[in-house]
Amino acid sequence: MTDQELIEKAIAAKEYAYAPYSNFRVGAALLTGDGTVYTGCNIECASYGGTNCAERTAIFKAVSDGKKDIKKIAIVSDLEDYTFPCGICRQVINEFGSEIEIVLANKEKEIKTFRMEEILPYSFSGNDLEKNKKNQKEG
Ligand code: THU
Repeated sequence: MTDQELIEKAIAAKEYAYAPYSNFRVGAALLTGDGTVYTGCNIECASYGGTNCAERTAIFKAVSDGKKDIKKIAIVSDLEDYTFPCGICRQVINEFGSEIEIVLANKEKEIKTFRMEEILPYSFSGNDLEKNKKNQKEG
């Protein structure tokens, strides 16, 4: 699965975006270690806090299917320019690996890639919780 192919899957997933409030459509497609692709779109809710981003839709589909080995996630919107994942999605993607590759495409389908740790430096993670537990045991 090339980055271009993964972007095409994200573009196709964007068609399912349920975004009646913002009209901002987002599509995502992630690749797992065994080559499976999971797609996602944003799903909005009249009670706005219930909205789920495309990236998290794809992640939750994969993880709830037993696939946590996430290698890459492609993200597209209708913007001319690249669309980066929001802060909440960065945290959720990072939960499954700071080495996950973020694959972005603009309207011309020019691709840029980043590693998760580049776009979420100095992150809070499960390691911090482990350290805290250890301190509590020792103290
Ligand atoms: N959105 C995403 O799906 N992913 C992002 O990374 C940015 C924001 C969605 C959430 C909401 O439905 C709409 O875009 C506007 O914020």
